[in-house]
Amino acid sequence: MASLAVRGLAKRFGDAVALHPTDLDIADGEFLVVVGPSGCGKSTLLRLLAGLEEPSEGRVLIAGADVTERTPAERGIAMVFQSYALYPHLSVAENIGFPLRMARRPRREIAARVAEVAALLDLSALLDRRPRALSGGQRQRVSIGRAIVRDPAVLLLDEPLSNLDAALRVKLRHEFARLHQRLGATMVYVTHDQMEAMTLANRIVVMRDGRVEQVGEPIALYDRPATLRVAEAIGAPAMNLLPVRIATVDGHGTTVALPEGGDLRVAARVPPAEVGGTATLGIRPEHFRPDPGGPFAGAVELFERLGPQSFAHLGRPDGSPLVAQLPADRHVTLGQVIRFSATPEQAHLFGPNGAAYPRLSP
Ligand SMILES: Nc1ncnc2c1ncn2[C@@H]1O[C@H](COP(=O)(O)OP(=O)(O)OP(=O)(O)O)[C@@H](O)[C@H]1O
Ligand SMILES: [Mg+2]
Repeated sequence: MASLAVRGLAKRFGDAVALHPTDLDIADGEFLVVVGPSGCGKSTLLRLLAGLEEPSEGRVLIAGADVTERTPAERGIAMVFQSYALYPHLSVAENIGFPLRMARRPRREIAARVAEVAALLDLSALLDRRPRALSGGQRQRVSIGRAIVRDPAVLLLDEPLSNLDAALRVKLRHEFARLHQRLGATMVYVTHDQMEAMTLANRIVVMRDGRVEQVGEPIALYDRPATLRVAEAIGAPAMNLLPVRIATVDGHGTTVALPEGGDLRVAARVPPAEVGGTATLGIRPEHFRPDPGGPFAGAVELFERLGPQSFAHLGRPDGSPLVAQLPADRHVTLGQVIRFSATPEQAHLFGPNGAAYPRLSP
């Protein structure tokens, strides 16, 4: 069992900064998920934790001990990569058992453990195959098997499911949740998948441009994104963002003027000096309510029926398009104008610097 921490950890490649000085504490047994756009430094952070990359500054601590100078092997961390690398001349069984052979475990123990891990990952029928005779998803599972075969105290996973089909992703997502419960390992997991992030994480780290934007429990990031960038990163389809003007403020909240006229109450505290200034209003697609008297309107340009839910993409004459979730049984025709409202509590308001204004409780 092991906690992880980084202190002032930074990485530069020449003049380019992949990771600005970062502090982060990951509790023993925590499942931490890292999300953020491509190139924001997620893999760099993982590689620094694993010891595969040398930091430009800062320290890495495992269970409180400084391991910055230690090799990957000495850190006792297992890692599954975005691009998995298997030994092409070894069978699936030999690939999975490789870390145990390196550790000189007895042959019987290796065989038993490989069989157990193979069963967990649905690889039992493929144990004698070479990697070139496997599909991408099967190879990915072999690399996961190799990482977990030694019951590591810390497991780092860099988009481990990115090459798999949707059904297998869901199955392995559940396996990761179970695996985490069973191993009790500290896990750091990079993904672009909202469902994986929201369902697996104890906490989510949102990164952007080599910095940590916000760290928190999934529902906290969803309900209270601290910045515009977090609002953009959490939730699918993404939060609608509209330019607005701060019209009035009082003790109960703020009224904003919408781009096409009309206004909306927001449960946010804006300094009176900022009345008249511009801000960004954020409303999630699932928080728009069809309302004939609502202040938002748009003509349906695209309608997606997903089964349990439907999403309407609405074009507006002088504003950015909106996406609104509708009840599954709602009938909609293209070109139809629909009006919506949103409650003050479900509206988010961000200042010109991208920081969310403080919320007011109802
Ligand atoms: N070895 C390297 N040399 C130079 N630049 C690098 C190197 N490795 C990464 N970078 C740069 O550092 C930045 C962060 O890269 P990183 O791989 O950590 O991003 P990422 O968040 O994992 O992205 P993705 O989601 O696409 O995997 C990028 O701008 C990348 O081009
Ligand atoms: Mg990456």
